[in-house]
Amino acid sequence: MHQTEESANAPTAAPAAVLTGLGSWLPPRGVTNDELSAHLDTSDTWIRERIGISVRRRADPKTATSDLATEAGARALRSAGVTQADAVVLATTTPDHPCPATAPIVAARLGLVNAAAFDIAAGCSGFLHATTVAAGLIHSGTADRVLVIGAETMSAIIDLEDRSTAPIFGDGAGAAVLEAGRPGQPGALGEVVWGSDGEHADAIMIPVGGSRNRDSRQSAPHSERHVQMRGNEVFRHAVRRMTAAANRAAAAAGWEPQDIDRLIVHQANARISAAVSDALGVPPERVPSNIATVGNTAAASIPLLLADAAAEGTLRPGHRVLLVAFGSGLAWAATTLVWPPGLHAER
Ligand code: UT7
Repeated sequence: MHQTEESANAPTAAPAAVLTGLGSWLPPRGVTNDELSAHLDTSDTWIRERIGISVRRRADPKTATSDLATEAGARALRSAGVTQADAVVLATTTPDHPCPATAPIVAARLGLVNAAAFDIAAGCSGFLHATTVAAGLIHSGTADRVLVIGAETMSAIIDLEDRSTAPIFGDGAGAAVLEAGRPGQPGALGEVVWGSDGEHADAIMIPVGGSRNRDSRQSAPHSERHVQMRGNEVFRHAVRRMTAAANRAAAAAGWEPQDIDRLIVHQANARISAAVSDALGVPPERVPSNIATVGNTAAASIPLLLADAAAEGTLRPGHRVLLVAFGSGLAWAATTLVWPPGLHAER
């Protein structure tokens, strides 16, 4: 068909980033609250009532983040029915090594020849940060298809004898495929609302092991080489920041609270999710959760929950979905999408 001069000169809308595949993977070993209580001053009742977790997964010490990420990434690619991607963006707090990034290792193992591959460090909001970067690559025409992964081996960086972190964090990975599509089509990612507040960076921190405090790398106490978290303070920031970001992302999509069919909240603590959904006016039956069986898996939390909710039929085509996450940095992000038809998550 011949283009008229007018249509040839008409500006074409930038492509949208559309969700076309979803996968996840969990290490097989579950650690129950009773197992933890055997060596920690805590109890099954306290953990279930104050956090909402019954069991979390722990990778064996020989398993690294790239192992989890490769499993989840392979499932997401299969779910999308594709074998190649232009880029791999991996969100993690627990890279295999300080150098190099983990994403190129994963890309090589997945056979993604010459794909650009890099990591994103944005704590528990890392997956939504990675999706945002991937969407930008697609909008700009730099990539047509991006594999986005959130993967964590939190057991490698928590002090297993610290009751303020050990019951909370779990290991796992989730992944999504984003592809260039039409703006506004089902599955297209909406506007992102994100931000950070480094004034409170030490509220969740591993004090030693990076370029700061390098003199004390060997001599530092065990606790300073593992995640330290002022949980109560983080709790309050999490509720405030996620509520504000989610409100703005919903408004950007033109949604009122009653329009939100599913609220996907980072699985930090069941009471945090309840406080955020309450503040947003979204009823509990619209707020899927898997924290009871996987714990807080940091950057893996959002894609793991998406894969579970999609596979279990809780997320259905046409649902208006609001996603929000918060974590170390402090950093947060929220976005929206209408759940696409024909997406089969592979777990
Ligand atoms: O993933 C992103 C970042 N992370 C988060 O968003 C996590 C945010 N924070 C939290 O989820 C919660 O603050 C925690 C689960 C970490 C702690 O729950 P909390 O309800 O805020 O407890 P708390 O620190 O206010 O402590 C309440 C009581 C204290 O005892 P007293 O002083 O009232 O006698 C603590 O010593 O609970 C005690 N406690 C525990 N007891 C049994 C604290 N941790 C434990 C424990 N087992 N594991």
